[in-house]
Amino acid sequence: MRIDIITALPDLLKSPFETSMLKKSIDLKLVDLHIHNLRDFSKDNYKTIDDNQFGGGAGMVMMIEPIDKCINKLKNERHYDEIIYLSPDGEKLNQKISNKLSLLKNIIVLCGHYKGVDQRVRDYLITKEISIGDYVLTGGELAAAVLCDSIIRLIPGVLSNETSALTDSFQDDLLAPPIYTRPRDYNGWKVPDVLLSGDFPKIEKLEKQGANTPYDDLVTWFFNESKFEILNGVSEKEYQKKLLSIEPLNKLLKEYHPEALKEDIYFLNEFVLWGLVQFKKLSKVEYSEGIEIQDPYGDYIKNI
Ligand SMILES: C[S@@+](CC[C@H](N)C(=O)[O-])C[C@H]1O[C@@H](n2cnc3c(N)ncnc32)[C@H](O)[C@@H]1O
Repeated sequence: MRIDIITALPDLLKSPFETSMLKKSIDLKLVDLHIHNLRDFSKDNYKTIDDNQFGGGAGMVMMIEPIDKCINKLKNERHYDEIIYLSPDGEKLNQKISNKLSLLKNIIVLCGHYKGVDQRVRDYLITKEISIGDYVLTGGELAAAVLCDSIIRLIPGVLSNETSALTDSFQDDLLAPPIYTRPRDYNGWKVPDVLLSGDFPKIEKLEKQGANTPYDDLVTWFFNESKFEILNGVSEKEYQKKLLSIEPLNKLLKEYHPEALKEDIYFLNEFVLWGLVQFKKLSKVEYSEGIEIQDPYGDYIKNI
């Protein structure tokens, strides 16, 4: 994916892309990032990119000409799928928008400054306006970093375990379950007993030994089930009921977490299912109406 960011303050964007996953995405050539200093497109020696407002309002406005020149230069070189302006009154960023944007090939991200850009930029040059929340930042650079981070981590190969992005909060409209690590007790703040009462067998270890896994019945259940759907907006109660209807999942829980409290069962059910998706023993297919969990080959084998 190619991302071109247009900014009056390129230095502000340096560090987010010089560390962690964003740097890795660039090093691995999964992302081709270009930061353009808007002042390079100014027509005067002072590198002016802003001017007073017509009508005399307070605050400077970013002029259309340098922005148009920069966007035009890029558009002459390749096709862009979206030209995004970051603005507090744009469409509020959410996981669905990031998912969609992560599938695009080339995008331009324009960072505003001062009072914002001349309205004609928004009317004639931009294809999408995104806000990162109902508050006002000094400029669009930090918003651009937020937007790019949320997109880039979804590109396959950026996270070492791709599917870990799929089990994050907001994917499937569900929040990620709570997670814990050592120590078990920190100053009296304890890890819930249910997580200490026994681990589920590690599927990758069993597979290495060529052994059957206790998850085989569960995977077969999904193979036999013609459709196991979880629709968007389903109430938590209905969702829990649906999970409880999976007989081999109940059996697993009884075997490995016999002491589990009623309120923990839901969490453990999800833990097992998402774990199997992560190890590609089950597949999770997303539709506009919700998700479907299937055996890894879907209906393919049944239809042969
Ligand atoms: C000081 S703000 C301009 C605010 C504008 N006058 C208004 O009242 O909506 C300068 C720039 O910061 C960026 N910005 C500020 N808040 C933002 C937000 N919540 N989401 C995305 N971009 C934002 C935009 O690019 C904007 O042009």
